[in-house]
Amino acid sequence: MGRGPLAKPGSGNMYAQLRSKVHNRLIEELAGSTDSTPPDQVRQRIGELVNELVTEQNLTMTRQDKLRVIDTVIDDVLGLGPLEVLLGDPEITEIMINSSRQIYVEQHGKLSLSPVTFESNEQLMQVIDRIVSTIGRRVDESSPMVDARLKDGSRVNVIIPPLALRGPTVTIRKFAKEAFTVEDLVTFGSVTDDMVRYLRACVRGRLNVVVSGGTGSGKTTTLNILSGFIPEDERIVTIEDAAELQLRQDHVVTLETRPANIEGRGRVSIRELVINSLRMRPDRIVVGECRGGEALDMLQAMNTGHDGSLTTLHANNPRECVGRLETLVLMAGAELPSRAIREQIGSAVNIIVQQSRLRDGSRKVVSITEVLGCDGGDVQLREIFTFRQEGIDEDGKVMGAFTPTGVTPHFLEHLASEGEPLPLEMFQPVPVGEG
Ligand SMILES: Nc1ncnc2c1ncn2[C@@H]1O[C@H](COP(=O)(O)OP(=O)(O)O)[C@@H](O)[C@H]1O
Ligand SMILES: [Mg+2]
Repeated sequence: MGRGPLAKPGSGNMYAQLRSKVHNRLIEELAGSTDSTPPDQVRQRIGELVNELVTEQNLTMTRQDKLRVIDTVIDDVLGLGPLEVLLGDPEITEIMINSSRQIYVEQHGKLSLSPVTFESNEQLMQVIDRIVSTIGRRVDESSPMVDARLKDGSRVNVIIPPLALRGPTVTIRKFAKEAFTVEDLVTFGSVTDDMVRYLRACVRGRLNVVVSGGTGSGKTTTLNILSGFIPEDERIVTIEDAAELQLRQDHVVTLETRPANIEGRGRVSIRELVINSLRMRPDRIVVGECRGGEALDMLQAMNTGHDGSLTTLHANNPRECVGRLETLVLMAGAELPSRAIREQIGSAVNIIVQQSRLRDGSRKVVSITEVLGCDGGDVQLREIFTFRQEGIDEDGKVMGAFTPTGVTPHFLEHLASEGEPLPLEMFQPVPVGEG
């Protein structure tokens, strides 16, 4: 049961006043030591103060309204204020605070304006301070952008004025309590059983896979599922900016990057972790996302015995994914000619899984594409499965069908030799209009 924000017309003012009085008295009493007083004690005292004030001021309030005031003050004092209601709502997956008065939320892939607001930018800044202080950071004019995490693992990005013109801006990607399973994705219509079967064979057969897609398109979710196909007896090293992957295998080493401290020192990048991981005798390297020079190390690892590695990359289609990889390799500072880079990509990457977030908010694997190597300086791509969009129904839902393209996968023989044979029929296209 979610509790709504305190925003009853007319009575809102009374609540706000009561709340701030309770809050002020509490601060007087505890002399600012709310963080060192046991939470249960603070909670109890808030309840008592509300009752005292209600009696003192002759307010008429229902028991339920009192409880709401108590909850709100508890959220302010012990938690993240108005954010607690949104964080506690399991339907909300992202929270986007554009200013103290404007908060958008994502539910079921759709954005909407939330009725929840902060009272002021000051209140919002207090909440921000509370979030970033847990990782020993502060946000101010000299460091106006900070990444942090909440206790539950949710990822937070903060950017404040003068960089953000309309006020302190906070973006929270809530930590998915339980990662989606492959069955979930099939039920959602994100992928078909046959596509899963093919991808499972590719992962087990040690092909190198890149999941490509835009922000929020479901890359990490798919990477998590693909990683789940890695056999139990292999040693897996995962490398992420913020550990999101939830592998169920036992033999997993989880590495996470570290941002610089307040003095600007001690940063450990994805790239350094990738290089280090090669000395950890991994069977598989899973990199949460390639967005810089680590792409080169990843390609080299894929090309030199660490086959079966997995990563994601920000791109809108498989062709763009290849181009982006090339750009990232250049960022590594290696003075390699374009052609050499493309040859590396062509031999390192075997499969590109393209994710997309469609207009109706659904996420789909819109393409599975094989990389066939490099020919005449161009990376050769061949699509094996595709999503054919056919229209939008009256509810705004995207209609369409997944289908094999009819091409026999180049890697079929390799997969069979790795003990992952697949029937040819799987790759027969569905005639247009059926399925
Ligand atoms: N196939 C899917 N169907 C529905 N929701 C999904 C699907 N894949 C991911 N999501 C949700 O979409 C959001 C973004 O997913 P994520 O995998 O983190 O994307 P990315 O890594 O591309 O930014 C999450 O809230 C996640 O739970
Ligand atoms: Mg991601």
